Amino acid sequence: MSDTHTPTLDNLSHETRSFAPSAEFAANAIGSSAQYEAATADRLGYWADQARKTLTWDTDFTEVLDWSGAPVAKWFADGKVNAAYNALDRHVESGLGDRVAIHFEGEPGDTRTYTYAQLTTAVKQAANAFESLGVAKGDRVAVYLPMIPEAVITMLACARIGAIHSVVFGGFSADALRSRIDDAQAKLVVTADGTWRRGKPSALKPAVDEALAKEGHTVENVLVVKRNGQDVAWNDGLDKWWSETIDTADVEHTAVGHEAEHPLFVLYTSGTTGKPKGIIHTTGGYLTQAAATHRDTFDLHPESDVFWCTADIGWVTGHSYVTYAPLINGATQVMYEGTPDSPHQGRWWEIIEKYGVTILYTAPTAIRTFMKWGRQIPDSYDLSSLRVLGSVGEPINPEAWMWYRDVIGTNNGKNGERKDHPTPIVDTWWQTETGAHMIAPLPGVTATKPGSAQTPVPGITVDVVDEMGVSVGNGEGGFLVIRDPWPGMLRGIWGDMDRYKDTYWSRFEGMYFAGDGAKKDEDGDIWLLGRVDDVMNVSGHRLSTTEIESSLVAHPYVAEAAVVGAKDETTGEAVVAFVILQIEPEAGEDVVATLRNHVGKDIGPIAKPRHILVVPELPKTRSGKIMRRLLKDVAEGREVGDATTLADNTVMTQIAESMRK
Ligand code: WT7
Repeated sequence: MSDTHTPTLDNLSHETRSFAPSAEFAANAIGSSAQYEAATADRLGYWADQARKTLTWDTDFTEVLDWSGAPVAKWFADGKVNAAYNALDRHVESGLGDRVAIHFEGEPGDTRTYTYAQLTTAVKQAANAFESLGVAKGDRVAVYLPMIPEAVITMLACARIGAIHSVVFGGFSADALRSRIDDAQAKLVVTADGTWRRGKPSALKPAVDEALAKEGHTVENVLVVKRNGQDVAWNDGLDKWWSETIDTADVEHTAVGHEAEHPLFVLYTSGTTGKPKGIIHTTGGYLTQAAATHRDTFDLHPESDVFWCTADIGWVTGHSYVTYAPLINGATQVMYEGTPDSPHQGRWWEIIEKYGVTILYTAPTAIRTFMKWGRQIPDSYDLSSLRVLGSVGEPINPEAWMWYRDVIGTNNGKNGERKDHPTPIVDTWWQTETGAHMIAPLPGVTATKPGSAQTPVPGITVDVVDEMGVSVGNGEGGFLVIRDPWPGMLRGIWGDMDRYKDTYWSRFEGMYFAGDGAKKDEDGDIWLLGRVDDVMNVSGHRLSTTEIESSLVAHPYVAEAAVVGAKDETTGEAVVAFVILQIEPEAGEDVVATLRNHVGKDIGPIAKPRHILVVPELPKTRSGKIMRRLLKDVAEGREVGDATTLADNTVMTQIAESMRK
């Protein structure tokens, strides 16, 4: 097998292993081949069934899809449904009030358990409190919280009253937070004093203070959860403690149905230009697809499974597979606040053993980190409860896939016993924009292949096309597209519908362009090959090359900048920046450190370039376009490829020389 860690057309074509589900797993599986057949025979009928099966509607819908305003879809448009009622109240009404909804594990080791009844009460109180703060249907609420139950409570309370949440990942900077608050014109911000990171308190509130220090924002109130007990500055005009506002609110609140197309949330994600896009998701279609895929891809048996999705609620995975789908499906889930290595590198396995986690959903970057730490760590825990393992966020290389299966998927206790049938691995391809799984195996049906997401979920039609938009044959590669509208699809970009059309619908006539390269193998199964645009994927987090370049050139030292994603064994890609300086830095100043910190402050620590190389020139074509391909060669330590189209072909030699210095 190849020793490269990111799949390429070349090394994937050698991968021929496949693993059929065990007879026992298949016999009890929720997903079935009949589903594919039903969805193929009548796609809209299939989704209508799913909508009625997964959700309780206040008003049933009569029309499934209205595509007359393409590319903006309307699904189940005349139906009414309340997301929070579906995630909470209805389970209590049907006698499941005592079932655990969330096992919360804080980084310092504190725990909290919420039953469905308790979570319902907490959300009703938050809904009442938000309303009393003047938040009404359609208003935007910015959420800047760590992975604590209040994050889920806040999101569901917004959904309950029809307010639109905009969660901003806690790792983003004050500036990034402010630009998102401004773009969405948020009325309320919900935050915490801080959280815990590797045993140390890590602050959040100061970033909110800094974000709101400059006048001209739309925020009327800031609710602050006390989490790590750190002292915080207090702004009497805006700030209110969560405990004094929410815990004292009325525990009765009646949910009313909202229109299926009422916006549920806006979530910002990086695109190919500098400005993040506010991806809009609405209620009925999004919830239907999130819940149906959660049930089928993970073979969810809500009465007995314990689900754990390790994603932060700041990303779409946390929205769909922490806040919404598991609760809609009445599942029990684990929520963990901290990092995998705190206080020791076995923390995740300890959590799985402690709560009897049966379904684990995580990212390749985490799996590769665990591989590096060594199998002796998971081997010393009892992981026998696990029965489905999921992957998301970036292409999973066959080595990591096999390790996941062999080490985690066969663990049958600390005594070294192995399972006869390793747990199925489900690699799930989707995006912030798609709302829910689009390509993923059904664990009881599909013979899975290490490194392939394989097959569209029932009711979804994807394809791989060439430059001209023509479907490629088996064994060929091209661009991933989605042919038909789907329930969980984005409904636009907040405040910029032209950009929505431009970004996704202009590349290929009548098809959604995902921005990913893909290949069909000889069986027609799909292998994802990474982004084909200026978007990087670092540890499953999406970053824009342009956004980081804009940040760098905004610094007075920098005249020009070019950013590339270089292959990285653990994080998938790493940010590498090439900069041309315009002024000499102060004597003794570490320019690289200054610029890294500048990007960290501008966008967030996750965007800090791993390497910054100061160069005399950048490679450009005659039309002035930076040839990132050549810089990628340099960043990955390869021989530089074809440079004949450069305007000045000595540039690459100059760069090579400046790097030797
Ligand atoms: C991009 C979307 C979907 C939630 C997390 C990321 C890449 C995602 C896979 C996968 C190969 C994947 C794609 C996609 N991606 N999952 N299973 N195999 N690539 O959401 O931040 O919107 O990023 O992540 O490149 O376009 P996101």
